[in-house]
Amino acid sequence: MTTLPHDDLGTSWRNARPRAAGVHLDSAACSRQSGAVLDAVARHARHEAEIGGYAAEAAAEELLQQGRSVLAGLVGRAAADVAFTESASASLRTLVGRWRLPPGSRVGVLPGEYWHNLAALTDAGLTPVVLPADELGRADPAGVARVLRADPPALVHVTLVASHRGVVQPGRELAELCRAAGIPLVLDVAQALGHVDCDLGADVAYGTSRKWLAGPRGVGFLVLAPAESAQLTPLVGPHLFDDGGADTDHARWYESHDAHIGGRVGLVLAIGEHLAAGPDRVRARLAALGRATRERLDGRGGWSVAEPLDTPTAITTLQAPDGVDVRATAVRLREEHRVLVTAAGRERAPAELTGPVLRVSPHLDATEDHLDALAVALAG
Ligand SMILES: Cc1ncc(COP(=O)(O)O)c(C=O)c1O
Repeated sequence: MTTLPHDDLGTSWRNARPRAAGVHLDSAACSRQSGAVLDAVARHARHEAEIGGYAAEAAAEELLQQGRSVLAGLVGRAAADVAFTESASASLRTLVGRWRLPPGSRVGVLPGEYWHNLAALTDAGLTPVVLPADELGRADPAGVARVLRADPPALVHVTLVASHRGVVQPGRELAELCRAAGIPLVLDVAQALGHVDCDLGADVAYGTSRKWLAGPRGVGFLVLAPAESAQLTPLVGPHLFDDGGADTDHARWYESHDAHIGGRVGLVLAIGEHLAAGPDRVRARLAALGRATRERLDGRGGWSVAEPLDTPTAITTLQAPDGVDVRATAVRLREEHRVLVTAAGRERAPAELTGPVLRVSPHLDATEDHLDALAVALAG
């Protein structure tokens, strides 16, 4: 059995948060925020009431700019490239909405692309085309290279870690292939940032605060290379200002005028906590938690794990034995055993899933005892 590395991280993560009411194995849906993040969000709201919303925002601007800088660093870009948004989906809608590619422009995607992403692409008039992948949905770089050469799409959009399956795409190889072909690569890192390495050379990366970074809900980010940004048209942009918007960083044109600024402050703190924990150590413990989960659950009560044992993520998905209802199982686990997991429906990735899956996604504070408890409950 796998032993979990960096127990100190588990302890400090647990001690930094309110006590969980049960066993929380659901970080791919939404992680538990730390006390410091919760306090920072509440303090910002109080500050707004004391000095005024816009004055409080101005007072927080230096912190937010530091946050843009470290967030950008995690995806290999600079502070000027970061726009805070309201969610991962909002980021993608802004990106494709403002890019205004000609109707019917083709976008390379993998077979397991997240349903909301496909909806945003098609809603913007774009045509997803499926790139070659293996039986688990991981991109086949040689096959992708062939498509990019023979029939290049306008851009490639890849979800680095999926919502319905804990596999990681070969992001670095894809970035190199896209760069060589002169095609922009957009990475959805909603399930990846704070979980696996996202500094891979993509042109655009976007995601959300609430999952592996354990920040507040209702906050997301869109990180754009200046060359991609130059192809977008902001709704309200520099051309409307007498000074040509000279002092405004290019990505800021894509932030909402009004927003949950306290949530952004909370995300910045959560990123600081992630950096203080050490991203490499966090990744190593999360990968070991994934392996420990799969070791315990595969075959239990007839449930079967989709991911290879050593997949370096903390997301495990299980297919149900014949006749067992996945949603009812998630409810039973919560109500009878106080174990929180997700029942993920087939609609999330209709071209890849054949039915719903049970998703287990522990964060750093999970223990072997938690996973054993789930294994026993699942068999029951
Ligand atoms: C891989 C992936 N992309 C995008 C999203 C959408 O994120 P949001 O709910 O922040 O729009 C999710 C949400 O679960 C996701 O898992």
